[in-house]
Amino acid sequence: MEISQKLADAINEQINFELYSAFLYLSMAAWFEEKNLPGFAHWMEVQYQEEFAHAMRFYRHITERGGRVVMKTIEGPKTEWSSAFEAFEDAYEHEKKVTARIYKIGDIADEERDRGAQGLLQWFYDEQVEEEKNTSGIRDQLKMIGDSMQGLFMLDRELAQRPAAAPPPADSMAP
Ligand code: FEO
Repeated sequence: MEISQKLADAINEQINFELYSAFLYLSMAAWFEEKNLPGFAHWMEVQYQEEFAHAMRFYRHITERGGRVVMKTIEGPKTEWSSAFEAFEDAYEHEKKVTARIYKIGDIADEERDRGAQGLLQWFYDEQVEEEKNTSGIRDQLKMIGDSMQGLFMLDRELAQRPAAAPPPADSMAP
C-alpha cells in the first residue's frame, strides 16, 4: 500500500525534527568537550548518531512506500548551558516533545488504518520509552551529585562507556 500524502507529510516533518535532535545533541557534545567532560561528550555524540539513524528509519519508510522525502531547513540548536544538569534537563524535555510528536503521527496512521506505518511506529514508541528513561536517569543522577566535582568526574567516566550507536537500518522494518 502506497503511503498517503498526509502521513508522508507528517513523517517528513518528523525527519526534520530527528535531524534537529541530532544537531541539538551534537551541540551539547561540543559544549561538554569545551567543559573538559569527554565522557559526557561521547554520550552525546552517540546520541547524535542515534538521532541520525532515527531520521533514516523514517526516510526509508517513506521511500520504500512510494513517497517522496523533502529535506527542509534544520533549525539551529541551543549552544550554551549553565550546567550538565541543565543540558540533561533539556534533553529529557526534548525527548518528551519527540514522543508527543510520534504519538500524533500514530493517530494519523490509525485513522488511515496503515498497518505498515503502525509497525514502524511501534518501534519508535518503545524507543521513546528508552530515550526518556536514559535522559531523565542521567538528569536525576546529576541532581544527586549537585556541586560535587568528584561525582561529576565519576559520572563522566561511566558515560564514556556508552557503546556506539548501530548504523541506520537499510530496511525500515528491521528491528
Ligand atoms: Fe529520535 Fe531521541 O528521539
